[in-house]
Amino acid sequence: MNREIAQPIMLIDSHAHIQLDRFDSDREAVLDRAQAAGVHAILVIGFDLDTSRGAVVLAEKYDYIYATVGMHPHDAKNWEDEAVHSFRDLASHPKVVALGEMGLDYYRDLSPRPIQKEAFERQLDLAEELDLPIVIHNREAYHDIVPILQARRGRIRGVMHCFSGDIEIMRQSLALGFYVGIGGPVTYRKSDALQEVARKVPADALLVETDCPWLAPQFRRGKRNEPAYVRAIAEKIAELRSVSLEEIGEITTQNFENLFIAS
Ligand code: NI
Repeated sequence: MNREIAQPIMLIDSHAHIQLDRFDSDREAVLDRAQAAGVHAILVIGFDLDTSRGAVVLAEKYDYIYATVGMHPHDAKNWEDEAVHSFRDLASHPKVVALGEMGLDYYRDLSPRPIQKEAFERQLDLAEELDLPIVIHNREAYHDIVPILQARRGRIRGVMHCFSGDIEIMRQSLALGFYVGIGGPVTYRKSDALQEVARKVPADALLVETDCPWLAPQFRRGKRNEPAYVRAIAEKIAELRSVSLEEIGEITTQNFENLFIAS
C-alpha cells in the first residue's frame, strides 16, 4: 500500500481582478475554490481609480488578499495630474504592496500613445517616491517599455505581468531585475515561444498568475477565469520544467514574498 502523504500545494495568484462585478454574485464561492486548489494568497490588481479602490476594499476584508493601485494604459486617456494624489493616498494603505497595472498597449491603442506614456512615467515617478514595486502591462510595446525602464534601472523593480515576449525580451527584463509573470496562455496550443520562456526563466524570477476574469487556461478557455485555475497554469509550467507542482508552488510563493511582501 502506498503510504506516501501528498505534500500540500502552496500557490499564489499574483494577478487577479476579482474586485470586478463579474464576481459579485459568487465571490465567496470563488475564494473557497481558490483555497481548495491550494491558493493561499491573491494579489488583486487595480487598473483605474475605481478598481484600485475595489482592490483595497477586498484586501481589508481578507487577510490573504493584497492589493495594487494604478492606471492601465487603456484608461490612461482619463489621466489627470490630480490622479497622482489619489493613487498616493490609496497606496498608503498597508495592504497595498505595489503600483499598477501600468504600461503601454499598442495592440488595442485605446488611449493615444503620448498619453499612455505620460500616465506610465508619472506612475513610475510615484513608485520611486514610495519605493514600491510595479506591475507592468505590455501589449506589442516592449520596444518602448524596455528603454523607459532602463532609464530608471536600479530605482524600480517589479513584474512583467502576463509575459508575452520571447527569450530575448525575457533576458532584457531579467537584466532590469524584473520578474516574469506567466499566465493562462502558456497552456494554449501554439504557444511555443511562451512555453520556451516558461522552461528557461530562472527559478528565482518566476511568478504565476491568472489575470482573471480574462485569459482562462486551455481547459476553460473562453470562459470566466478565476484564481483556482492558477493551479492549471502551475501544473503546465511544472510539466515544461520537469519538476513537481509542489516545487513550482514553493518557488513562486518565495518569489512573491521577496518582491511584494519583504521589500
Ligand atoms: Ni490584468
